[in-house]
Amino acid sequence: MTEQLESIVEQLDPLRLRAVQQLGPINTSSALDEWNRRYLGRNRGELTKLYGLIPALPKEERRVIGQRINAVKNELELLLNEKREALRQREPVQALEQERIDVTLPGRMQRPGYMHPVSRTILEITQVFQKMGFWIVQGPEVETDYYNFRALNFPTDHPARDMQDSFWIVPGEILLRTQTSPMQMRIMQNMLPPVRAVVPGRVFREEDIDATHEAVFHQVEGLLIDEQCTMADLKGCLERFAREMFGANIRTRFRGSYFPFTEPSAEMDVNCTVCDGAGCPTCKYTGWVELLGAGMVDPRVLRGAGYDPGRYRGFAFGVGVERVAMAKYVVPDVRLFSQNDLRLLRQF
Ligand code: DAH
Repeated sequence: MTEQLESIVEQLDPLRLRAVQQLGPINTSSALDEWNRRYLGRNRGELTKLYGLIPALPKEERRVIGQRINAVKNELELLLNEKREALRQREPVQALEQERIDVTLPGRMQRPGYMHPVSRTILEITQVFQKMGFWIVQGPEVETDYYNFRALNFPTDHPARDMQDSFWIVPGEILLRTQTSPMQMRIMQNMLPPVRAVVPGRVFREEDIDATHEAVFHQVEGLLIDEQCTMADLKGCLERFAREMFGANIRTRFRGSYFPFTEPSAEMDVNCTVCDGAGCPTCKYTGWVELLGAGMVDPRVLRGAGYDPGRYRGFAFGVGVERVAMAKYVVPDVRLFSQNDLRLLRQF
């Protein structure tokens, strides 16, 4: 017997024994595949490799050893098939065992949806004015220069335009509305006094973004036109709005201001709820937060709408929705509203 033959014979029996022993405890088809690859694999299988040694043997020895390797191979293949069949029959049982339902586990709760704090604030603001008899009207976000500016007494090149840096679609003609005020003229052109309307909506400005400024934000515009209407009515209406929104203890203050479409004009602040007046970044250390601009509708605007300024007067206001939401829900940074962080949203 040549040395090479001896070496093959010496490997064959231990290999067979190892394979049979390892097959015994296998109970998954992936482990069985692995076993198959290891011993009978087409290229690197341990038994397969022995065949590769045969051609080096003298002719008369080749046949004998070939038959012995074949015998082991047949045996292993037989065992493999038996095992595979056994596993296949056990699979449904196994699956049932693994998928058993534990009825004592706690259920998985579905979280309900939440109304976004900005939507909720719009709803609250408009409801307060609805109770005072105002209608709710909506208008377009893409506006003409006429409604957004000219009809509101912002002539071309008027410096007040610089207060509202605009996103132009067609420069000088069509833009994303910078305020909800364009609806003042649209409403007046479509109805006769008395007018009481509020207009919630999204507005757009090319702003430097910080804790109190966003490029996209929301306003609720208000317009009231009637025969009897004074600045005292305006103050009474807006103070009542503040009390309804924030509770009876809220403090308000009016400051003189300027808007081209109102005369006189004012801004209304409420005390800062984030720091309670002590001073913080949200109120820019003033203790007050500006909520809205307002004023008596300028006679030129009334005339532009075809109303007789000798007979009708009115007031208008524009509420910053995010400002109200920040003050009411003590949110220190306006950018939180657009970040969609569930930790904030879940509180509503
Ligand atoms: N449109 C103004 C702005 O966005 C706010 C405003 C001021 C609206 C006075 C009004 C008003 O209706 O009367 O800055």
